[in-house]
Amino acid sequence: MKIQNVLVIGGSGFVGRHVVRRLADQGIDVTVPSRRRERARELILLPTVDVITADIHDAAALASLMRDQDAVINLVGILQGGRGTPYGNHFAQAHVKLPQKIVATAKQLGIKRLLHMSALKAAADAPSGYLRSKADGETAILAAPPEIAVTLFRPSVIFGAGDAFLNLFADLQKIFPLVPLGCPNAQFQPVWVEDVAASIVDSLDNTDSVGRTYHLCGPKTYSLRELVALAGRYSGHRRPIIGLPDALARLQALAMEFVPGIPLSRDSHDSMQVSNTCDAACTLPFGIVPTPLESIAPTYLAQNSKLASNDEFRRRAGR
Ligand SMILES: NC(=O)c1ccc[n+]([C@@H]2O[C@H](COP(=O)([O-])OP(=O)(O)OC[C@H]3O[C@@H](n4cnc5c(N)ncnc54)[C@H](OP(=O)(O)O)[C@@H]3O)[C@@H](O)[C@H]2O)c1
Repeated sequence: MKIQNVLVIGGSGFVGRHVVRRLADQGIDVTVPSRRRERARELILLPTVDVITADIHDAAALASLMRDQDAVINLVGILQGGRGTPYGNHFAQAHVKLPQKIVATAKQLGIKRLLHMSALKAAADAPSGYLRSKADGETAILAAPPEIAVTLFRPSVIFGAGDAFLNLFADLQKIFPLVPLGCPNAQFQPVWVEDVAASIVDSLDNTDSVGRTYHLCGPKTYSLRELVALAGRYSGHRRPIIGLPDALARLQALAMEFVPGIPLSRDSHDSMQVSNTCDAACTLPFGIVPTPLESIAPTYLAQNSKLASNDEFRRRAGR
């Protein structure tokens, strides 16, 4: 089936902007709903992209957005979702009820293709509400009837210009003389946002991807301490990193819940109790070669760093 119209829910976010740009490059007509249209300024300028202010949780609004689409991509995700068993209400709304509504609407409208973004290590018995709610979201998507071709993606932490992870630790090191760090030994296998976007877009009309769940990881595993050190080095503000004992780390995470714009919480602390890495055999789909963090992160964390600027020149020169 030729895919010409795609609804990208969560298309205004960090990953979404890269996915939407790739779809637009292929001449695909893309609709992006957003609660704040101005958040997606750069997408509004793309010729085949329509950014619409909409409440995607409203059944009628969702149906109107999904009508006549060849495919729907759901990228909605939040890191702070409140506390609760098995998860807080915001996680339930964004990660579980929304996928349920998307499937129900797709069934009703005869939508044939559905791509859904989950998270690595999502599981019903995972240590955090984020991961437990992501698991229930997957269950909702996988309950779609066979006439809806679904594909799921489970990335490790995603890096790239505008990310909320390495940029956060670079910014903190610009401001503070040292970094008191919870879970310094937590393991990650960061994957480049362009590799994630390529995996999603390439799977859209690829029949082999139907019914599959792709684990998306970069080429190398790092501890959180190593990643924070790299963020400091590339941004030119390398600071001493003090690993916190677990009790203190939880207290720090609790305090961070009251700081707007910082995606750290007791729940994200809980997520880090499981390693965010892929099996050794895992590769990106469609022959995509995972891009090393060292070849990309210096280019956007660089602003004030001479060293990182040199890295950018080296990269451009292919050295
Ligand atoms: N970034 C990572 O490292 C990472 C790692 C693993 C998995 N993921 C998953 O990848 C997906 C994309 O992540 P991202 O980093 O691109 O996230 P992001 O930048 O925070 O973007 C989230 C998107 O979801 C929408 N959204 C958030 N909360 C919503 C709500 N309550 N109701 C309606 N829309 C809402 C936002 O739309 P508005 O324009 O309306 O604000 C935005 O477009 C998420 O599912 C996330 O869980 C990300």
